[in-house]
Amino acid sequence: MACIGILISGRGSNMVALVDAVASGEIPASEVTVVISDKADAAGLAKARTRGVETLVIEKNGRKREEHDAEIVAALKERGVELVCLAGYMRLLSPEFVRAFPNRIVNIHPSLLPSFPGLNVQQQAIDAGVKVSGCTVHFVNEHLDAGPIILQRVVEVKDDDTAETLAERILEQEHAAYVDAVRRIVSGRLTIEGRRTTYSGISDKA
Ligand code: GAR
Repeated sequence: MACIGILISGRGSNMVALVDAVASGEIPASEVTVVISDKADAAGLAKARTRGVETLVIEKNGRKREEHDAEIVAALKERGVELVCLAGYMRLLSPEFVRAFPNRIVNIHPSLLPSFPGLNVQQQAIDAGVKVSGCTVHFVNEHLDAGPIILQRVVEVKDDDTAETLAERILEQEHAAYVDAVRRIVSGRLTIEGRRTTYSGISDKA
């Protein structure tokens, strides 16, 4: 049984996709043990509670990043969490946090990395004039949006797209991509070598 902890800062739609996929068995042999938010007013908290998942709010409260992260790591470890999924968690993790879960922290990002790391990435994609964008699920290392890529889904950028319309279409793909990526990880058939990951199981169709 893989124990999953999910970190959010806001709406939590990716978190909901993961919790629901675990509940339906689409992500097998797993349990979402806790959802932690760094924001007390994150809308995702109520969605997690409705689904019977324990929620915690651990705010930074002016502390150093290391201290904030240490409290989160302790809460995750106390609950036996083995896989940490960042789902719209809008903070950089400290190196100590990353080292506490080596190759066991995953993030979803709304662009085709390594293009457009950071923030406002849908607007960055539109401004750059790219014709496709999408989303990336990747392992988290000590560098921003730079860990080994697990999978990506492509979304067309339309001529009349705004950051909002593009974000909406990417988000639909994010939910499917995140579920597929976590399924691959818990299957034990995903290997990491340097910057590359290889999956030797059955893939979902894109
Ligand atoms: C998602 O689009 C996610 O990819 C993005 O924030 C949104 C959260 O939505 N994350 C990042 O930009 C991380 N760098 P959600 O709260 O509904 O899952």
